Amino acid sequence: MSAWLDRAQAALYVLSQRLVGADLAREQCVAALAPRAGQRILDIGCGPAYYLNALPPCEYHGFDTDRAQIAAARERFGDRGTFYSEPYMSSHCEQLGQFDGVMLLGLLHHLDDAECKSLLELVVRSMKPGARVVTLDTAFFPGQSGLAAAIARRDRGKFVRPAEQFRSMAEGVFERVETRIVGDTLRMPASHFMMVLERPRSAS
Ligand SMILES: C[S@@+](CC[C@H](N)C(=O)[O-])C[C@H]1O[C@@H](n2cnc3c(N)ncnc32)[C@H](O)[C@@H]1O
Repeated sequence: MSAWLDRAQAALYVLSQRLVGADLAREQCVAALAPRAGQRILDIGCGPAYYLNALPPCEYHGFDTDRAQIAAARERFGDRGTFYSEPYMSSHCEQLGQFDGVMLLGLLHHLDDAECKSLLELVVRSMKPGARVVTLDTAFFPGQSGLAAAIARRDRGKFVRPAEQFRSMAEGVFERVETRIVGDTLRMPASHFMMVLERPRSAS
């Protein structure tokens, strides 16, 4: 019964993502990460990892605090990656070593400012030299359509912020912060804020 509920919960999440075009936004994130075959990829807040097929064969590690989402990810992709039903912590960073790419898709708008800062600092310690991080979040933007703003207001994340606030948090930790607004179109009515982060300040 519990396995069935896990599957149903994950399936509902994926369906809701497809309805607002959020799956297309994930595809753009994977393209921005530009992972190569054989690389080590860390995905924090991976959920059911439904975009894993978009990645080339790689050493993938997915973390999520939601047991049901991790159960669904393991069931579908257990042969493609390692999944952890726990938050990513300093001890993981020491045990697993460094990664070529880090995905924080749909995560930062679930965390308060202090949590975002400490997570980004932990991510920096988990990056190989030259590694890249891609983030994607529900956010508020000037000129956002009424529909996209309404979807953003209803997001489950408690910390949906103006895009500029995400950027300034990232700029505190990374030298290079490239940003893009994804969505707010007919096919992708929700709008998302993507950031590509490189060159940690602590490494310069
Ligand atoms: C909006 S979902 C995104 C899932 C997936 N990355 C995607 O893009 O579809 C956010 C996920 O972050 C997880 N989460 C929230 N806080 C977390 C934390 N501190 N550590 C790891 N996962 C967390 C939630 O359980 C949820 O599955």
